[in-house]
Amino acid sequence: MSSRIDTNPTAYKARQFNLSGLNGISDETLEMHFKLYEGYVKETNNLNDRITKFIEDGKVDQEEMPAYSELTRRLGFEYNGMVLHEYYFDNLKSGGGTGDPTQTAQFAKAAESSFGSYEIWKADFVGIGKMRGVGWAICYQNPVNQRLSNHWITLHETGNIAGFRPILVMDVWEHAYLLDYKPAERPKYIGAFFSNIDWTMVEKRLGNDQAKSAGA
Ligand SMILES: [Fe+2]
Repeated sequence: MSSRIDTNPTAYKARQFNLSGLNGISDETLEMHFKLYEGYVKETNNLNDRITKFIEDGKVDQEEMPAYSELTRRLGFEYNGMVLHEYYFDNLKSGGGTGDPTQTAQFAKAAESSFGSYEIWKADFVGIGKMRGVGWAICYQNPVNQRLSNHWITLHETGNIAGFRPILVMDVWEHAYLLDYKPAERPKYIGAFFSNIDWTMVEKRLGNDQAKSAGA
């Protein structure tokens, strides 16, 4: 199976992230997390490869249906596990960030127009991050009206909004902080996450229409 993936031009390749020296999130955690991410890339490729074998004769036989169905159901978990980790690592700033954005920053303005103020947006995002369970807090932008909204994603796949653009992505699975904090100390990890946000990357993700309406 691996030889097929190695030669498959459509197979995903794990990205390398130049990320270290964060505030409150150790390099040891990051290294472990990069390895977990690579596992999602590998499993996404494995699933695609196995599903391709089921359908290459142009049909799904009745006896193949249970296995085919289970593999297909897993796609959302593995794909989102791969993609969300890429968003997460990309929105962290190597060497540590500078905390909250200034009031005039493009993201702060976008949060204000959607939530009334950056502080209210942050209270919602942090509140979602503290929700019990395993998953993600994600700030999305609706590409139709540029409005920001925050969402809880269970595991990797339940709660993502189709077509919405991920702007800020925070992993709150325990593996994201367990080497640095106790399981009950998720709020400390969330504080560390905020001190490491790469706001330049976050603002790059805001749509062009948003940039225009913010006068950028
Ligand atoms: Fe993770």
